[in-house]
Amino acid sequence: MARLDPHSYNDSTQPETETLDWKARVDFRTRRLHAEATLTLKEASAGPLDLDTRDLDIRGVVDAQGRPLPYILSPPEPILGSRLRIELPAGVKQLTVRYRTSPEASALQWLSPPQTAGGQQPFLFSQCQAIHARSVVPLQDTPRIRIRYRASLRVPKQLKSVMAASFVGREEHGVEAEEHYEMPQPVPPYLLAFAVGSLTSKELGPRSRVWAEPEALEDAADEFAGVDDMLKAAESLFGPYDWERFDLLLMPPSFPYGGMENPRLTFLTPTLIAGDKSLVNVVAHELAHSWTGNLVTNASAEHFWLNEGFTVFAERRILEALAGPEVAALHAALGRRSLDEALHHFRAHPQLTALRTHLSGVDPDEAFSQIPYEKGYLLLRALEDAVGRPTFDGFLRRYLAKYRFQALTTEEFVRFTEEELPGALAKVDADAYLNRPGVPESAPRPASARLEALEKLRGKVPTQADTKDWTPTEWQLFLESMPVDTAKDVFRELDAKYALTASRNSEVLVAWLVAALRAGFDAPLGRAEEFLGEVGRMKYLKPLYSVLASSRDHRKVARAAFEKHGARYHPIARQGVELILARA
Ligand code: BES
Ligand code: ZN
Repeated sequence: MARLDPHSYNDSTQPETETLDWKARVDFRTRRLHAEATLTLKEASAGPLDLDTRDLDIRGVVDAQGRPLPYILSPPEPILGSRLRIELPAGVKQLTVRYRTSPEASALQWLSPPQTAGGQQPFLFSQCQAIHARSVVPLQDTPRIRIRYRASLRVPKQLKSVMAASFVGREEHGVEAEEHYEMPQPVPPYLLAFAVGSLTSKELGPRSRVWAEPEALEDAADEFAGVDDMLKAAESLFGPYDWERFDLLLMPPSFPYGGMENPRLTFLTPTLIAGDKSLVNVVAHELAHSWTGNLVTNASAEHFWLNEGFTVFAERRILEALAGPEVAALHAALGRRSLDEALHHFRAHPQLTALRTHLSGVDPDEAFSQIPYEKGYLLLRALEDAVGRPTFDGFLRRYLAKYRFQALTTEEFVRFTEEELPGALAKVDADAYLNRPGVPESAPRPASARLEALEKLRGKVPTQADTKDWTPTEWQLFLESMPVDTAKDVFRELDAKYALTASRNSEVLVAWLVAALRAGFDAPLGRAEEFLGEVGRMKYLKPLYSVLASSRDHRKVARAAFEKHGARYHPIARQGVELILARA
């Protein structure tokens, strides 16, 4: 027996799933999916087949002829869930599991109408990365195994489903509609994704449309109007786009991430709707995953940096192509700040600050941080600087070509890079990035004229002339760099002059609220409380709850806000906030 992924019961000596046929009826009343999953294996082999499940109510397992197959559902383990072991007789290549999901399925959030933009219809969405697919479908939930799938969703007739797959058609039967999908490209299970709600769409370009609730559609279409230019820029950097379509789905506010790279249909937080396209780097990031992550995939959560570090690198290359090197450098500087903060946060767990992690017994959601993103980015930047851009671009193309539609480990990355760029890893001390905590002193530092100008204003109130050309990113950097001991008068003056408490840009607003509250300037406290009821994105909830919880005066405010809004947060976000409050 060989279990290669610490987060899956998959045994690499057993046959692999080739295709999934999934049928589910979406029941908003009981908050369950009544479902059937047919797995077709690459080869028949008599013996046990171990699948991952979490909180599934298994009704039965049958072969292609409908004959029952014996199975054992083990008691749940805290991180992995329950192993479903099916005994396969000789010659059986296909099996069907009939089951229903739990109302608490960790991949699903069921929203009541008031939690949506329109307020009239319920909404359901999935978020499977890293190891939540198993709470929706019994399968080999490891990115080492890729599947093609077909799916049918039965939903209330007045609603529309969308899926990270190609739409095949819709039929209506009485009060229900059945919608069919097909995913022809093989994908790791964490990329299985769907949503159901009152959804409409608008074309953005020949390969893209945006889906949103009707109330939010026009603003979303304006914000993301540049997506086709982004696709073209990305293709000229990384090669042809392999997924045919790049559609966007604007999520309800409780979506816990900024974006999720579900293939053909990226999910995006509504906090990106700033009115000025200033937050579209998140779209660039999710688009970049079409190459780094979705095409070339980390072999397990222990190699997550291969997904995210490469994607941040690719995201900033896209930004550089579209907006210039100054803008890319500002983002790199923001990244370096968030990296230093994450290193500080994980100072008691230095082993989690190496890029290559060891996660047996560790929940990937708890190990999540900016480290794989930004330390990974720095390693790739260091390599690019060491060999020069043209050579590095060639390397990147060959990496993508060699591992396309496959998963790889950090160790395979090292072997490949050693062959392709002999000596480069040693030159940048890659081992320090990959296997040691912290960041090497020699790591690249973002440098640019705009950054230097910002540095001079640190802790001061800038004049209108200083800020005349500032982008929201500069505001964010300026605010994040404010010294903790900045005088309250500086905050008062800043708000009076620049109305930061009223900012529509969520990044600027959160940077402002955190800087002000941390320094003891309490005027924006009310806005902070209000904002905690408006969003569910963890990137904002965590720092806001942390800064409130760290002050004796505000701890009560934090607890009360969580009491009031916690039930509406996504379960993953709720867990994150609970941890912050418990430690306070
Ligand atoms: N794939 C991630 C989101 C994710 C990571 C979900 C791990 C679940 C587990 C996505 O691509 C991402 O990184 N989103 C960022 C965007 C940012 C880096 C531009 C986010 O949500 O903030
Ligand atoms: Zn990402």
